[in-house]
Amino acid sequence: MAGAGTSQLSPRWAVFLCLFTILCSLFTPAVAVKENDFKKCDQSGFCKRNRAYADNAVALGSSWQAPYKIVPGLASFKDGQFNAIILKTIDEQGNTVRLPITVSFLKSGTARVTVDEQRRQEKDIELRHNSGARPERYNEAEKWAIVGGLEVDKNAKVAHESETGIKIQYGPDSAFEADINYEPYSIEFKRDGATHIRLNDRGLMNLEHWRPKIEKPEPEKKGGEEGQEEKKEEAPEVPASADESTWWEETFGGNTDSKPRGPESVALDITFLGYEHVYGIPEHAGPLSLKETRGGEGKYSEPYRLYNSDVFEYVLDSPMTLYGAIPLMQAQRKDSTVGVFWLNTAETWVDITKAKESKNPLALSVGGAKTNTQTHWISESGLMDVFVFLGPTPRDITKSYGELTGTTAMPQEFSLGYHQCRWNYVSDDDVKEVDRKMDRYKIPYDVIWLDIEYTDDRKYFTWDNDMFKDPIGMGKHLDVHGRKLVAIIDPHIKNVAGYHVSDELKSKGLAVKNKDGNDFDGWCWPGSSYWIDAFSPAAIKWWSSLFNYDRFKGSMENTFIWNDMNEPSVFNGPEVTMPKDNLHHGNWEHRDVHNVNGLTFHNATFEAMLSRKKGELRRPFVLTRSFYAGSQRLGAMWTGDNQASWEHLGAAIPMILAQGISGFPFAGADVGGFFGNPELELQSRWYQAGAFYPFFRGHAHIDARRREPFLLAEPHRSIITSALRLRYSLLPAWYTAFYHANKDGSPIIRPLYWTHPSEEGGFDIDDQFFVGSTGLLVKPVVEKDKTTADIYIPDDEVYYDYFNYKKLATSKGKHLTVDAPLESIPLLLRGGHIFPRRDTPRRSSQLMKFDDYTLVVAVSKKGDAEGELYVDDGDSFDYEKGQYIHRKFKLEGSTLASTEAEGRDVKSIKEGEWLKRMRGVSVDKIIIVGAPSSWASKKEVVVESEGKKTTAPLDYHKTEDGKNAYAIVRGIGAGIGTDWTISFA
Ligand code: NOJ
Repeated sequence: MAGAGTSQLSPRWAVFLCLFTILCSLFTPAVAVKENDFKKCDQSGFCKRNRAYADNAVALGSSWQAPYKIVPGLASFKDGQFNAIILKTIDEQGNTVRLPITVSFLKSGTARVTVDEQRRQEKDIELRHNSGARPERYNEAEKWAIVGGLEVDKNAKVAHESETGIKIQYGPDSAFEADINYEPYSIEFKRDGATHIRLNDRGLMNLEHWRPKIEKPEPEKKGGEEGQEEKKEEAPEVPASADESTWWEETFGGNTDSKPRGPESVALDITFLGYEHVYGIPEHAGPLSLKETRGGEGKYSEPYRLYNSDVFEYVLDSPMTLYGAIPLMQAQRKDSTVGVFWLNTAETWVDITKAKESKNPLALSVGGAKTNTQTHWISESGLMDVFVFLGPTPRDITKSYGELTGTTAMPQEFSLGYHQCRWNYVSDDDVKEVDRKMDRYKIPYDVIWLDIEYTDDRKYFTWDNDMFKDPIGMGKHLDVHGRKLVAIIDPHIKNVAGYHVSDELKSKGLAVKNKDGNDFDGWCWPGSSYWIDAFSPAAIKWWSSLFNYDRFKGSMENTFIWNDMNEPSVFNGPEVTMPKDNLHHGNWEHRDVHNVNGLTFHNATFEAMLSRKKGELRRPFVLTRSFYAGSQRLGAMWTGDNQASWEHLGAAIPMILAQGISGFPFAGADVGGFFGNPELELQSRWYQAGAFYPFFRGHAHIDARRREPFLLAEPHRSIITSALRLRYSLLPAWYTAFYHANKDGSPIIRPLYWTHPSEEGGFDIDDQFFVGSTGLLVKPVVEKDKTTADIYIPDDEVYYDYFNYKKLATSKGKHLTVDAPLESIPLLLRGGHIFPRRDTPRRSSQLMKFDDYTLVVAVSKKGDAEGELYVDDGDSFDYEKGQYIHRKFKLEGSTLASTEAEGRDVKSIKEGEWLKRMRGVSVDKIIIVGAPSSWASKKEVVVESEGKKTTAPLDYHKTEDGKNAYAIVRGIGAGIGTDWTISFA
């Protein structure tokens, strides 16, 4: 069966595939990524200069004089905003440039520090305006990333002011303070009197100002040996920080960047005082707790890089850049979380070092010296724009960041199910056959995906008519069981006459331009291509029109979209992307906007999906590979081209956790591994892990053997089917977790530092996690032949085994070893939680929509528990009009009650069709894990609902080991949307 895909190929396909494979091998390295294809810091002019600048400052120590100071006379504070001018001394004569600074104190308690550069004289602009590029610094990152939370707190007030600085109190109960020091310029952020964050702590701030390009005469060549000797002696040593060689032009890998605006980097050091752990700044394949980057054992020697790139088979445990960038960092110490968001969309590098600090020699004997984490942020262009969060909890940061950049869109309910993908399902018959086989083996799934080969010659919005003769028939076939199709649409548009998309793109002038202002032509899957400039409102409008059902023929209501290659990936471009001197809408250089490029394309597709048909308003589902801060508002992401290896299985968990704490929790990794062929054990373990990814998709490279779950030998097929069924039964709990992500940005899967910020033992744990607030604690097995798992227990709550309800012998701060033979997933229930399930196995989530619920109650040490359910139609925006059910469940003493979670008067809500149908849906079963022994003789419980009293039978069981009990109440029949109580008394 493994060869099923190729055996169905038409001759045309075979020729095509053959050519394609040759092409791919040109661009796809045989082994891992060629690290040398991507820049190291010292191959990137601005990174090298800023690192050298930092080294110089650090070497000079206290004699380092940072050249930035605020002019006291020009500083003012009014209505929650501090405005001033920073003077940068630029030469020995004392000449300066003026850098306006604004510190805004926002209602959320977040502070924002923005430093720009004052517009120069007309003639200077002229000088610099020697290309089509805009002369000012890029200032539209906010337009793409920020959607709210900018309201200024007028209650912020000056606590002290003098010639040397100003102290401003702000935030909740005025507990925060910003101490702005004028000379040298720095800002300390305090909470309750203690400093947590210092900007420009080490004086590494550097804003490379505008300057005219001065053509220097070539040094005169003197003949003979003697002359050369003489020249050597005369040449002054240029410190690397002042190295001008890459100011006006830079070459890497045979590509030259023309840099018409010269050097314009922004850099700043930010110290987290007393913080040993920092997290965030995805996307990197490394541990959740970020490593130091200036060399040494167990440390990286390169900074973390953020420059969205198509890195093919990426290496693990590396600060190398990947497909997306979110410049949000959180610092954690016991009982305190703070953070910064560096709003800059240009290429960015972040150095991290940790330094012990011990002012008090006695401190060493009592608990040791405290550690400061020092970070150094370096971006190629744009504004210096930093948001500072003072916590004090991870949840506070998540919330404030969510207010700024938005939260996860309420998803299409189906998108929480399992997605079956490969490159490629080769025909509509192939798709239907996979669908039938999944059914034959009773394997649930929701979506089947089409990769690039469904198109006619990689022309998006078209079909390969030989292989996909009847796409609508295929869509209807899937719809019978509520299933969906996701089709890929990439941003590169084949450059060929007669292709309507290409013709329109060109004639409307909506493509990205090269530095000369002509349509940029590069190489991607279709060969020679143009790129839609999704920064342009006109381009977004046009793109939207392409998705109308009558234009994208063959697409229908159950077709959704996958955006790939949107870094953008350009096979023949510098570092596999676009030249930085390309031009976008508004004449901004690609350099300025590179990291947000993927978001703009994702956004255009999201918008398009909202307007496929007049009057049809449904939630889009769009998967993206590239992303930036704010992408969470538009859909899901996945971690790109991983490999079928145990190491990649392990690496995916910290990567997905990092997404979650960085505001973009709808994340997953290719289950099974994209490149290569997973051995059966690996594939089984990967599905067990994948069942706990917020986005759960199996995917495989075109050269990989077929590996759909039904193809696998037993016991693997059954193991994978069980993992999938577990996922499906827990969908109501997942959906509730998505609801919270939508409400306040909270992660869907949660690392221990986030759930237990007081427990230092969990701060560097990134291989286990909680699912939403369900109390489900998972530790997927990611090692070959491993049959046990050591789970770290972060508190002294009671924990149960999910599958047999046994109470576990846990101890706070210790690892618990559980058996984890291949067929089982280490999964615990934390006492004190209640979560909803749907226990009837079905083919797809849609077919479960009106199934009754099971509630699982895990009784806490104290004897209580609580939890919730959020559910809506999973498809429309009617939830915005109150068309949803939101219940709170509480076990207190011997009563379990369901109440409206928000205290709404649901009777006053006019029920739409979905709510009406939900009236027939009830709580069928309740499982009480850790049921008190006083219930042992109980045979029934009293259910009170809608003014009626009934009874329901209770079965009390001892767990296998006889040490604990659980009770099951069946046939409860209380409406899921109604108030009810169950009395166990
Ligand atoms: C690269 C993507 O990462 C991968 O998932 C996809 O299969 C190929 N492009 C082909 O579209």
